Amino acid sequence: MKVNGTPYRTIFETYDGAVEIIDQTRLPHEFVTLRLENMRDAERAIREMQVRGAPLIGVTGAYGVALSMRHHASDAALKASCDLLVKARPTAVNLKWAVERMRTLLSSMPEKERADAAWREAERIADDDVRINESIAQHGQKIIEDMHTRKGSAVNILTHCNAGWLATVDWGTALAPVYAAFDAGIPLHVWVDETRPRNQGASLTAWELAQHGVPHTVVVDNAGGHLMQNGHVDMVIVGADRVTATGDVCNKIGTYLKALAAADNGVPFFVAMPSPTLDVTMQDGVSEIPIEERNEDEVNYMSGLCDDGVIRRMRITPLKSSAANPAFDVTPARLVTGLITEQGLVAADAAAIREHIILERR
Ligand code: MRU
Repeated sequence: MKVNGTPYRTIFETYDGAVEIIDQTRLPHEFVTLRLENMRDAERAIREMQVRGAPLIGVTGAYGVALSMRHHASDAALKASCDLLVKARPTAVNLKWAVERMRTLLSSMPEKERADAAWREAERIADDDVRINESIAQHGQKIIEDMHTRKGSAVNILTHCNAGWLATVDWGTALAPVYAAFDAGIPLHVWVDETRPRNQGASLTAWELAQHGVPHTVVVDNAGGHLMQNGHVDMVIVGADRVTATGDVCNKIGTYLKALAAADNGVPFFVAMPSPTLDVTMQDGVSEIPIEERNEDEVNYMSGLCDDGVIRRMRITPLKSSAANPAFDVTPARLVTGLITEQGLVAADAAAIREHIILERR
């Protein structure tokens, strides 16, 4: 995708063997890239959400392992790096998936081969992410196109959080079909949930849609139900941080409420799910998926560009109030119209997931 006309991936290798990321904590008001020199830099970037979004934290984790192998490639160093990286964020399974893939490969080979092999494997994981998302784009475009044919006018799509190219290496998951449909000339408009407390919708989704010229409108998180009741939403497309073998979807906090509103109003609710986001070890999303509880300051404070051009952080709650900050919730499979995967549209149920995703990836 392009930033001010220049093509970018969200994570890329530098000529001198480091890794560079787009620092997402600085968007939308500043576009800054940041160099990751070692595994600790990668771990911090994930934990502090300079990179975020399930697929991108997976790729950053893989590069974290590769950076660590440059310095120490012993069994002990491999174990220490993988263990630390996996813990950086608990909910999105992509991080665990990518780091365990690195661990399995590297632990099977001699120490002296690990540094090069790790680098190549991290590149493969990054390139695979782009390929998977391009496929999701094609399958999802068809869904938007069919809706346009039925409706005869612009398709209104509501999305939550940021599951665009900033959340992946390129393309995005939920927004990949939007970009493909837009580029194919299908008239569309995106409702962007602001996504408190970190405002990934208002800060990131709106920014990347604007960079691409896609018509969009930012709404407060609570507006979705009202928009759906009044016929202003034709479909919802969201991303996912972990999907169980039975089709329960864990995604950014507030997704579940959108799914309830969509079901009540007969609005199709699609989840874009790359296969590394599927956790075949889990059956029941609500009881099994670990939900990250983040610092209450994310709720107590907001930051933004003030009228004098200075970016400031300010407290919005009384000093004596405390806040809770669960970062994700679970949407039960029964509320999901379908999973848009690299294999095509798959029903959110155990049999379909097994047939189309689990068996195919063997
Ligand atoms: O806390 P974040 O910003 O990492 O959460 C991101 C999301 O919830 C996305 O919707 C999800 O990772 C899908 S990304 C393609």
